[in-house]
Amino acid sequence: MTQLSAAQAGKNSSSDGGKTLYGGKGTRRITVRDIALAKERGEKWPMLTAYDAMTASVFDEAGIPVMLVGDSAGNCHLGYESTVPVTLDEMTMLSAAVVRGTSRALIVADLPFGSYQEGPVQALRSATRLVKEAGVGAVKLEGGERSHEQIRLLVESGIPVMAHIGLTPQSVNSMGYRVQGRGEEAAQQLLRDAKSVQDAGAFAVVLELVPAELAAEVTRVLHIPTVGIGAGVETDAQVLVWTDMLGLTGGKMPKFVKQYADLRSVMGDAAKAFAEDVVGGAFPLEEHSVH
Ligand code: KIV
Repeated sequence: MTQLSAAQAGKNSSSDGGKTLYGGKGTRRITVRDIALAKERGEKWPMLTAYDAMTASVFDEAGIPVMLVGDSAGNCHLGYESTVPVTLDEMTMLSAAVVRGTSRALIVADLPFGSYQEGPVQALRSATRLVKEAGVGAVKLEGGERSHEQIRLLVESGIPVMAHIGLTPQSVNSMGYRVQGRGEEAAQQLLRDAKSVQDAGAFAVVLELVPAELAAEVTRVLHIPTVGIGAGVETDAQVLVWTDMLGLTGGKMPKFVKQYADLRSVMGDAAKAFAEDVVGGAFPLEEHSVH
């Protein structure tokens, strides 16, 4: 087992020990050791995506302990149809911005499609760029058993890995966007995938669009935390895409998204108010002028 045990993790922790991930007041960055301790305490934790420094700084100030520079940036930030076209250069640039905008959160960056599927050495080369050039604390990659060797080499090389199983959006062309793990055979495969990424040394695993009962079983069986998105109430952590969660994305949202704000209306209304002020002469006024 390459993963540090939670007990060992606690012994090595430099500050923040015994504090919660959310609501903790530590001044250093959250590490994967803190994540292991949270699972031991049975503490649930939130993760949000972020793609730029300013948004990330808001979430960092709000106490979000883990931020994912997801390749969902493809659809939610860069205007692509899916995550498939996102490049390692783009992920490196976005990740560096998120790291610069934060001081406490653990920043996890996605390895984009095509940057690790060739094998462990390609995965190590790609992940090394994200760690050295962008400064992230961990990377995420998709796949269970099929990504075992990639995860193992990264972890052995000192790069913490968050795995991602269930619906894996980089495989949209072969898999579509469908619930995964339905039926006995698919459920057994998902369990094998979960154990495989844990055995390879992953510090956490995202379960995307998986039946709630199966996600609960995986969460019970694993000693690393599960991070659910559309995976029911029992996972150790929950992740949402920030533009969905804050109502910026627009269009029909999947059932698993809870919308906490309506930024699309707020921003649209503000843009219209500004335009009307300019056209009608209400902005700028004398008070906005310099002399
Ligand atoms: O890219 C992403 O945002 C993700 C989350 C949906 C887990 O992988």
